[in-house]
Order: sequence, then structure tokens, then C-alpha cells
Amino acid sequence: MFHVLSTVNIIWLLLALCFAAAFCLNRFSVKLPDRVEHVFQDFIRYGKTKENIKRTSWQLVFDLSKRYFYHFYVVSVMWNGLLLLVSLRSVVMSEAFPNWLIDILWSLTGRSRGSWNEIHLSTLLLQVLLWVHTLRRLLECLFVSVFSNGVINVVQYAFGLSYYIILGLTVLCINDSLPQSESVGFFNQLRWYHVIGTLFFFWASFLQHQSLSLLAKMRTDSSGKVETLAHKMPCGGWFELVSCPHYLAELLIYAAMSVCCGCGSLTWWLVVLYVLCNQALAAQLCHEYYRSKFETYPHDRKAFIPFVL
Ligand SMILES: NC(=O)c1ccc[n+]([C@@H]2O[C@H](COP(=O)([O-])OP(=O)(O)OC[C@H]3O[C@@H](n4cnc5c(N)ncnc54)[C@H](OP(=O)(O)O)[C@@H]3O)[C@@H](O)[C@H]2O)c1
Repeated sequence: MFHVLSTVNIIWLLLALCFAAAFCLNRFSVKLPDRVEHVFQDFIRYGKTKENIKRTSWQLVFDLSKRYFYHFYVVSVMWNGLLLLVSLRSVVMSEAFPNWLIDILWSLTGRSRGSWNEIHLSTLLLQVLLWVHTLRRLLECLFVSVFSNGVINVVQYAFGLSYYIILGLTVLCINDSLPQSESVGFFNQLRWYHVIGTLFFFWASFLQHQSLSLLAKMRTDSSGKVETLAHKMPCGGWFELVSCPHYLAELLIYAAMSVCCGCGSLTWWLVVLYVLCNQALAAQLCHEYYRSKFETYPHDRKAFIPFVL
């Protein structure tokens, strides 16, 4: 019971609830007072979906370019690379985690310091996959995506930076809660779900990359030269099923990581719940934007989950 109510679980649950509440408030258009509505919309929207909302001049002061998205992934590649290195040293050289890290993990989980004496294969696999994921996203931001002049606000920017810090720590938090026996050697811990989860992860990553490439191609000619920064009606690939297949792929990537830890970590399921709520909100806003902008937008296309949502 104590571990179920750990700080890390409460953080992810609260984040998920905040985005779920924002999704409901927006979707079921509860009428808020004008000033509150302006602030609310400014906090939940970024990029193209921010274009058509009323914003006061003081709100514009806090705008930053959406091109800065790549900062999140730089932070993640460095921070999660460092945590991966610490874990590798623990597995290969039996080196103890540094005290500052144990102190942080203890404050997030309340578990004893010994919980990180032995790093499980599932934990290390999740760390590798998280690092690979954010490295790919960094490369896509720098070399694939074509950004327009869309904006995010400073709070969203700060949230994006801290997100990957807490996410990396969360992977380490699940170490002691995984279904494995301490007496089993590191490589003997390999199970079918590690293989299935990893294959699922790479398939979902491919889907996300393909969707982001299709968005970029709508702005470039066949030689890759940028022709327009307009937001066009997406088509092809999974865009025929949903408005935001790259958001769906994000959810599948996190679900695949849950499979990699045998579907047995409540903490990681709470992370998946947060991604579901966060990406469902972003997809809903994007879907509404397309439907209001393009008269011929396909009626049967869903926002986020094919045939469902
Ligand atoms: N895990 C999380 O909490 C989390 C949170 C947010 C995002 N993400 C992930 O990060 C990735 C990017 O997210 P995002 O919200 O930035 O996606 P996005 O708004 O769809 O933008 C992706 C790229 O496509 C461009 N674009 C968007 N709509 C377009 C259109 N209709 N025509 C032409 N180009 C278009 C964007 O340019 P402009 O917007 O500059 O015009 C940007 O370069 C996604 O895969 C998402 O799943 C994860």
C-alpha cells in the first residue's frame, strides 16, 4: 500500500488527471468566464491550434518558438544517457549508484537504498529504449520536421524540459517492483515479453517516424526544398484513419515499454495513462482545427484511435 501511494505514482496520476480534466472541459465545452477561458486555452494549446484563439497582449509575452521542441530531446539524450551509463556501470562493474541519485529515488519511492543494488534487465532495457526514442526524436526535429512560426508558452516549455528528467528517474523507480527473482543472473532474466515489447516498440517508432515524415513532405518538394509553411490537410499512411497517427504512435511506444517490463509495473502504467490523456487532448484540438479549416475533411476520420476516438 505504501509503495502504491509513492510520490512518483502520485505525480503521474495527478498529471494524467489534469490532462483528462482539460480534455473533458474542452470537449464538453463547459462555459468558463471569458478571462479564465483565454488562459485555459493558452495553456492547453500550442502550435497551429493556438492560431485561432483570442489572446491578450500580455499572454503573447510568454510565447516561445515551437522550433525549441528539440531542446526537450537534447536534455533527454544527455540526462537519460547519464542515467543509462550509471546503470551500465552498476550491471557490468557492480558499482553502486551515486548517493545523490539514491536520495532522489528514495524520495520518489520511499524504498530502501538497497533497491538499486541490482539493476534488472527490464529496467536497463527501458532505459535503452527511452534513450533511443528521444535520440530519434531529436534527429527528426533537427533533420526531418519542417517547423512554421508556431509557438508554445514558457510554462509548456518548462514542463517539456522537466518531463524527460522525471521520466528517466521513473524508469529507475520501477526497478524494485518488477516480476523477477534476485537469484537469476542478468542475462537469464530475458523473457518473451522483452522480445515482443522491443519489436512492438520499433514498429510504433516506425509508425511515428513515417507520420512525421509525411507531415514534412507536405511542406517540401521532391528534392526536400521547403516550399510552404502552411498547414495542409494530411493524407496517406495512418492519416487515412486518424488525424494524428504520430500521437497514437507515441501512446503505443509507451505501451510497448510496459510490455517490456512484463506489464507488471503500476508506475509505468500510470505513465502510459498520462501519455494517453496528454496525447488525446492534443489530438482532439488538432482534429477540431482540421475539421474547421478543411470543408472536405473526411467525416469518418477519427482524432486519435482508429474507429474509436
Ligand atoms: N510524450 C509527450 O508528452 C509528448 C508531448 C507532446 C508531443 N509529443 C510527441 O512529439 C511529436 C511532435 O508533436 P507535435 O505536437 O509537435 O506535433 P505536430 O504539431 O503535429 O507537429 C509535428 C511537425 O509537423 C508540422 N505540422 C503539423 N501539422 C501540419 C500540417 N497540417 N501540415 C504540414 N505540417 C504540419 C509541425 O510544424 P508547425 O507545428 O511548426 O507548423 C511540426 O514540424 C509527436 O510525435 C508527439 O507524439 C509527445
